[in-house]
Amino acid sequence: MIINNWYAASFADELTDPPKLVRMLGCDFALFRTEDGAAACLSNICCHRGGSLAHGQRVGNCIQCPYHGWQYAADGFVQQIPPLGDAVAIPRRARVDSYPVQEKYGLLWVFLGDMNEQERPVLSDSLSVYGDTENWRMCRLQREWNVNWVRLNENLVDTAHLYLVHSFGKHLPSKMNIFPVEVTEWGGHILQTFRPPDPKDSMAIDEVEQQPDERQESHVELTYDLIGILHKNSQQMASGYNQIIWDVCTPIDAYHTRHFSLHFRNFNKSPEHDEGMVKALRYGLDEDAAVVEHVRPRLTPARQNMDLFVATDDAELSYRRKVDEVGRRLGRIDVHRMDELVRDQALVIPSPARAEGGNWGHASVPLLDS
Ligand code: FES
Ligand SMILES: [Fe+2]
Repeated sequence: MIINNWYAASFADELTDPPKLVRMLGCDFALFRTEDGAAACLSNICCHRGGSLAHGQRVGNCIQCPYHGWQYAADGFVQQIPPLGDAVAIPRRARVDSYPVQEKYGLLWVFLGDMNEQERPVLSDSLSVYGDTENWRMCRLQREWNVNWVRLNENLVDTAHLYLVHSFGKHLPSKMNIFPVEVTEWGGHILQTFRPPDPKDSMAIDEVEQQPDERQESHVELTYDLIGILHKNSQQMASGYNQIIWDVCTPIDAYHTRHFSLHFRNFNKSPEHDEGMVKALRYGLDEDAAVVEHVRPRLTPARQNMDLFVATDDAELSYRRKVDEVGRRLGRIDVHRMDELVRDQALVIPSPARAEGGNWGHASVPLLDS
């Protein structure tokens, strides 16, 4: 798992009051909104004696630990220790890690790492259709996978499984065309051309009000981006029925992934079609899960030659290489060491304030060498 990256923690409108417990990268975080509505994210473990902040409540602009009532501001510093009263100075060490938060595309993104603002990678602007309600109808879903995040993303860029795993792919030949991967700074890009599915075979376009007059080639553009762990599947059909699926994956821990999916369509734009669209999307993801959740080992193999890559695996291989490259650049958690240490100590993702030094009660997660 990679630190110093932006991770989607929640749909923005799903964070109100009370605070929300969110697990990411094997650590727990308390998300809450201050009185003025700004979203904040703190390490969830109270520095006093380990209470779970997210199980507490918001008090003014603070979140209050449910155990003895210590109150933390959005910057992570304790403002009040009610059992001591007002006359006592609060120790400087009475703080937890606080993480930068931004709201974009209807999601709350948290920067999990200790890079300062100038060094941080920037979240992609690739979802320009977001908010364009005149031309696109959006629906969305959230799903949790019993799958490592790299395994899941390899599935999202994999086209060799479509003909076999998916009911919408049954029109596809088993022998597939191979399209080159263009590697970018933080990801990759693939342009594909397909004969479009017969609308009757595709649950996703099962309910189109008018069928296309002719079936010409469709263009599918796959883009993956390690910053934010994004995947964009943009389908331009000859019929003019276009859709964009924008997937965001956040590792819950090394073995589980939270997946946010935004779907945009330029057809059937009235809201009554949303439910059928989400159902179709979930159906396709369930088909993937039935296979991918059983892939072993659960983490990608330590060496590439432990899998047998062939020409149709170029996209997956490029994904795995990019994960390695970006992980070395931004920082990688040593998940096996973390599994050992976490049995008897609180481990946290280092926040930007840690880069300035100071005395912290909780240790940082162990990292691999770059
Ligand atoms: S454990 Fe949080 S206030 Fe005591
Ligand atoms: Fe799939």
